[in-house]
Amino acid sequence: MTETTTGTDLSAEQARRETELTDRVLASFEHTPDPRLKELMQSLTKHVHAFVRETRLTEAEWNTAIEFLTAVGHITDEKRQEFILLSDVLGASMQTILVNNPAAGAATEATVFGPFFVEDAPQIPLGGDIAGGAPGQPCWVEGTVVDTDGAPVPGARIEVWEADEDGFYDVQYDDDRVAGRAHLLTDQDGGFRFWGLTPTPYPIPHDGPVGAMLAATNRSPVRAAHLHFMVTAPGLRTLVTHIFVEDDPQLAIGDSVFGVQDSLIKRFDTQPPGTPAPDGRELGDREWARTRFDIVLAPDTA
Ligand code: BEZ
Ligand code: FE
Repeated sequence: MTETTTGTDLSAEQARRETELTDRVLASFEHTPDPRLKELMQSLTKHVHAFVRETRLTEAEWNTAIEFLTAVGHITDEKRQEFILLSDVLGASMQTILVNNPAAGAATEATVFGPFFVEDAPQIPLGGDIAGGAPGQPCWVEGTVVDTDGAPVPGARIEVWEADEDGFYDVQYDDDRVAGRAHLLTDQDGGFRFWGLTPTPYPIPHDGPVGAMLAATNRSPVRAAHLHFMVTAPGLRTLVTHIFVEDDPQLAIGDSVFGVQDSLIKRFDTQPPGTPAPDGRELGDREWARTRFDIVLAPDTA
């Protein structure tokens, strides 16, 4: 009798030996005191063994994988987290977000957090500017925050952060600039408005082993243009998300970390020079853009 794993016929004895090993490793976790840890370790064992058996992984390939993970560890320090980057490009970060942010009525979809959030970004008033001198096309962003019953959420805290038009976040520069980030609070009607920059596509850090893996698999390191949001309000589920730019050609190529959801793609309307700004800001002969993002927060069931 033979067993087949993706085109490989195994003798009954070979299949028995391989299955027996998996069973033995599973049994080794049987007495794990924490039931959740036991579940995770046994499931991981099943999936890793299934991968090795299904692909008939060679010892050379196993070695390459170990070398790759070693390189991921070596480049990781307090500023560079290559393991999270690896999780991101494998879609594991996004899948974890999907599992932990279940669909709830019209609640706005969540997406990846990314490595460039900074605590304690400055507060701006409604209508203020997050750019802080970062280069880019000014963009008026407005919207409301409501709950899933449609009730406005006054005083919601909105953190926003984004790359400049050169594709860099402030923390990627060697000086201590704070730019392209701020927080603001919604008004009594749940409304918010601010000046940001029209987002532009930029590559994730790709000078390390994750970048080499992307190159070897013919994948782009570029993220679709986006503006990050984190919205918090008492009694409601914290929302970490982005909005994406409808006209961005990178949307068709694909986002390197699989963060795009159709519901998060927004129109950014370019306004010709001389178009009066909503708040009377004097923009001279510059083009500017405007967009709208209406946010729905799910109830906090945690
Ligand atoms: C970001 O959007 O900032 C980001 C997300 C995942 C990996 C790298 C960057
Ligand atoms: Fe980003």
